[in-house]
Amino acid sequence: MKSILKTLLYKVGYSIKKIRPAARPVSGAAGRNKAAADVMALLHATNPYEGFDYAALPFDAHGWGGDSPAFRELIAAQKPGLIIEVGTWKGASALTMASVVKELGLPAKIVCIDTWLGALEFWTDHSDPQRYGSLRLKHGYPTVYYQFLANVCHHGQQDRIIPFPQTAATGALWFRRSGITADMVYVDASHEEEDVYQDLCNYWEVTAPGGMMFGDDYSWDGVRLAVQRFAAEERLKVEFSADKWVLRKAAA
Ligand SMILES: C[S@@+](CC[C@H](N)C(=O)[O-])C[C@H]1O[C@@H](n2cnc3c(N)ncnc32)[C@H](O)[C@@H]1O
Repeated sequence: MKSILKTLLYKVGYSIKKIRPAARPVSGAAGRNKAAADVMALLHATNPYEGFDYAALPFDAHGWGGDSPAFRELIAAQKPGLIIEVGTWKGASALTMASVVKELGLPAKIVCIDTWLGALEFWTDHSDPQRYGSLRLKHGYPTVYYQFLANVCHHGQQDRIIPFPQTAATGALWFRRSGITADMVYVDASHEEEDVYQDLCNYWEVTAPGGMMFGDDYSWDGVRLAVQRFAAEERLKVEFSADKWVLRKAAA
């Protein structure tokens, strides 16, 4: 009985221990910037870049849609304190966002949530060098995370980019529990409709009022159908910046 109650309370966002909201929203840009600065320490007891021999892995940030002008346009307008990227791969889009943030002199951090295990389409074609081949399986387990880490170091962006090797769902839950919201969430993980829809639901919860979710590959059926379904349910207009879809959250 207690566990059923606990599950129900948890689902509506409460912890049974003290009947308090599971997420404590950090309000205001200053609060968000402070929270953003804390994320590295909250996630990692030891800095993931510490002692990492990145020179052993030459720079290779091949990805998809990572050099879009939309990143600059959206970041310049939003002036975020915290960006969450869901689906990072080798870091192409994260590095573009980090260089825009640096160029604009913003204090923003970028949290990269990825399992670094690849999405469905990465495992369906052994002859695809950019997906299956780039997983760099070692005894059957992907090692592409280290290529991402090396790429960040080659670009000297270790202070801005925070790796969070997790599933999209658990990553969102971590943010909800921490009470930290992001001004921008870039959604580019699984492209299967139900997965994308779930990512949109989960990350809308951690998008700050006045913030936005945006993403890649609107031409993929799974992405488009999920974005359209979510937008209709939330009565949002799907906007576009270059090749990215954008959903804006009303200010509080
Ligand atoms: C299309 S790639 C990301 C491309 C990247 N944004 C770029 O600029 O090149 C998709 C990534 O999402 C990750 N991914 C897929 N499903 C995921 C999930 N459920 N949780 C976390 N990461 C996931 C994969 O490991 C992969 O690295």
